[in-house]
Amino acid sequence: MTFRFRRVLVMAAGLVLAATLTEAQAPAAAPAPAASTGAAAAPAAASAPGSEFPAGPGRDTFIRVCSACHAPEQVIGHGQDASGWADTINQMIQNGAQGSDQDFGDIVQYLSTHVGPMPSQINVNTVTSLDLQNWLGFTPQLADAVIAYRAAHGKFTSLADLEKVPGVDASALANFKNALTF
Ligand code: HEC
Repeated sequence: MTFRFRRVLVMAAGLVLAATLTEAQAPAAAPAPAASTGAAAAPAAASAPGSEFPAGPGRDTFIRVCSACHAPEQVIGHGQDASGWADTINQMIQNGAQGSDQDFGDIVQYLSTHVGPMPSQINVNTVTSLDLQNWLGFTPQLADAVIAYRAAHGKFTSLADLEKVPGVDASALANFKNALTF
């Protein structure tokens, strides 16, 4: 006898229900990328859409489903937990986002893991470019500059040290001073 593992995400239960309810009326208007491999349809631009999103379960599904109408970067800066993301995705399903219940569950999981709420403490020596954009509202250019500076000069040791990165000034950090650790 074979036992098929059925993935049940408790957290996604409400989402799944809402997805089922709205699927029937969802217009089939989303421009469907031909390939199901996510980035395959992306133009060969300097930075492919979604290139800053880290690998992890659900990434490909997120890029495929959530790039149909707007850039996947649209999710940066919202800092939501799983239930916040579930609400957003229900809204996107009403906007016409196409995917299976499993797809949407995986996307909630991916987003709450990688684009989640700001923690009370942020270690600037382990933080990623995406984190800086998501939590501190840095532009992609500024966030990348911080990571490049860290790679070139080693760990930041103080706030003053961090402010040596061209473009990072005291006012950009004022609101986060107490959250940053070194
Ligand atoms: C069928 C088109 C479509 C797809 C697919 C789509 N969205 Fe959207 N999205 C929209 C539209 C339209 C808006 C702007 C209006 C709104 O907020 O509903 C938007 C806005 C957003 C916003 C900003 C909302 C805010 O409050 O400012 C986020 C975050 C977002 N989408 C996330 C996602 C995620 C995550 C996915 C993948 C599950 C996704 N979108 C897929 C159409 C889509």
